Amino acid sequence: PVEERIDLLMTEMTLAEKVGQTHQVANIDPDADAPEIAAGRISSSLYASGPTGGNERDEGVLVGNIDAAQRHAVEGSRLGIPLLFGRDVIHGHRTVCPIPLGIAASFDPDLAEEIGEIAAREAVVDGVAWTFAPMVDISEEPRWGRVAESLGETPVLSGRLAAGLVRGFQGDDPSDPHRLAACAKHFAGYGLSAGGRDYDTVSVGENTLRNLHLRPFKEAVDAGVTTVMAAFNDVDGTPMHAHEHLLRDVLKGEWGFDGMVVADWNGIGQLVNAGVAADLREAAVLAIRAGVDLDMCGGAYLAHLEELVESGEVDLALVDDAVRRVLRLKFRLGLFERPYAARPGASNAPTAETRAVALRAAQAAHVLVKNDGVLPLDASPDAGSVLLSGAFVDDGDALLGTWVLDGRGEEVVTPGPALRERLGDRVTVADGRFSDVTLMQARGAKTTVMLLGEHRSRSGEAQSVVDIGLPPGQLEVLRAVAAFGKPLVAVVYTGRPLDLSEVLDLADAVLVVWHPGVEAGNALASVLLGEVEPHGRLPMTFPLSTGHIPTSTHQRPTGRLIRADVDHEEGRYIDALTYPRLPFGLGLSYTSVDYGAPVVSSPTLPVDGSVTLTVTVTNTGDRPCREVVQLYFRDPVAEVTRPLVELTDWALVDLEPGQAREVTFDVRAGQTAYAGRDLTTRVDAGEIVLLTGPDSARLQPVSVTITSPETSS
Ligand code: IFM
Repeated sequence: PVEERIDLLMTEMTLAEKVGQTHQVANIDPDADAPEIAAGRISSSLYASGPTGGNERDEGVLVGNIDAAQRHAVEGSRLGIPLLFGRDVIHGHRTVCPIPLGIAASFDPDLAEEIGEIAAREAVVDGVAWTFAPMVDISEEPRWGRVAESLGETPVLSGRLAAGLVRGFQGDDPSDPHRLAACAKHFAGYGLSAGGRDYDTVSVGENTLRNLHLRPFKEAVDAGVTTVMAAFNDVDGTPMHAHEHLLRDVLKGEWGFDGMVVADWNGIGQLVNAGVAADLREAAVLAIRAGVDLDMCGGAYLAHLEELVESGEVDLALVDDAVRRVLRLKFRLGLFERPYAARPGASNAPTAETRAVALRAAQAAHVLVKNDGVLPLDASPDAGSVLLSGAFVDDGDALLGTWVLDGRGEEVVTPGPALRERLGDRVTVADGRFSDVTLMQARGAKTTVMLLGEHRSRSGEAQSVVDIGLPPGQLEVLRAVAAFGKPLVAVVYTGRPLDLSEVLDLADAVLVVWHPGVEAGNALASVLLGEVEPHGRLPMTFPLSTGHIPTSTHQRPTGRLIRADVDHEEGRYIDALTYPRLPFGLGLSYTSVDYGAPVVSSPTLPVDGSVTLTVTVTNTGDRPCREVVQLYFRDPVAEVTRPLVELTDWALVDLEPGQAREVTFDVRAGQTAYAGRDLTTRVDAGEIVLLTGPDSARLQPVSVTITSPETSS
């Protein structure tokens, strides 16, 4: 029936009204824009402010403006087509959860789903119907600021978490008044921007795209994501907003994506800057042909599409396809039945229930990467004094992370008060600046906990850096404090992998906690004191230093692979990919876990079948833990070079002290599928090495042989 309703509506629409449905504005002002809305010349908007500019942070102002603008569309326009309000609700709306890279550290798609759901429930109260998340760009370049918004460097982890977020945002049916439309972005290759410089060019072949970068998008599409955003970058010379092959042939054709493709902000207009279009008119031609359906803040379609169709330069069928996809989204969201905000006037401030999700998410984002036994801190009253020091002790805003439009710094539980609540007078909370006073305090304290890292404004869009070292001054203080020779814990707040080499040398324990969101303080205190066992895992490799970039777990072998047992030299650049500072998947707990050798149910694996792989994990320590049992594979001989190891599955396993558990994975031959030289997907007969362990650097292998129907018969 939706398609019939669209057919019916489109027969009523003038060309001008159709073009109006392809036009998205940045801000909408219900009064000033009323004539344009009533004329059907605006389809969608990102922000909504009133005549005085409007303060969206005041309760009800955003939704008031949105509903007022909507009224002009629904009641004042000829066909009553509702407006669509999008917003960057990336890792929470009011209840801000960890940045996506922190969510990825949880390795927990169900948790991602919960995060998406609470974000949606809060955002609809403000009249938002569509979020520009999840970002699923494979991110392997720490200098790139947007890795903070990504789900890490591996396709399977990114894809599963993306699917979890999509399920959370959209629910089973995005027309549920408490859910949003989601958007898989940025299609495609954005994570490869040259040297990590945001928006830069991308040189990549289609084989690498298919075997790596497109996979999380496919997973999001299979999970039912309703929209996809085009990327700012080019791919081998063709800007994505003009990339007919990837957008129209692959995404919409091969994958059968029937949702809407939105431009990134002025991405169509930027085709002129990129030098592939002489002017906005030509840019509009390229983008509509490529399959960009909604023009975000570029104005190219509104200015030129009507005339381009009338002159015959653009086929009406292309515009009709774009409009159909925009209307399909509006129908799918139920906007024709329910155009106004779900619960106007209701509060969407964080509640005990939403904070509980944010706390679990923040705890799951804490990755313990070193512990010489100083953690957990002794919580008993006579255990000695603790100094909590550093830039983040009481700066709520800094802990929210990138892309937070509606969260509020004052709603963040910061580390200082959280630790004081638990330790009382035992803890001294320094004033946040490192100074001589800090040093005196550290000299007197039994244990010092130093909160290091980067402010949230140092990562995110356009925040690329030339050096992934700590911000200036922090290492100097760490060195001075370490010289006292007392127990020292370093907590690293960051939106990207940093060069932690010296931190790891100087501190007795190191926790990487990203930007954790509104429950930052409670999460840190609970992990430091062992109320909760640390269980996050690194979703990106940490290189030895800036100069050692690139490093990532899916590096492919070269003709002269460096082998540890033959000729590895610590710190040598040519060894960088094999020897990062901290490997993908690493995360310690407060206990020790032993991994048995993996055992497969059969040495042969039919090409269309599966085997089981079993590994026994044993908690050999005296504290419980949540282990992330990881399964990788290597394809030793294929038609194209394949990753040295690729994460293909994992299991979250709770273990009591002394407990042993058998963890069983179903391994399908299809998990080893890849695009071959002709770009078609294939599964090869032959040996596959399956590897299990606690992280990508500590793996035990077992081989199986994939048998084709011919070889197995
Ligand atoms: O969603 C974002 C995108 O990721 C970057 N450019 C702007 C968009 C809308 O705010």
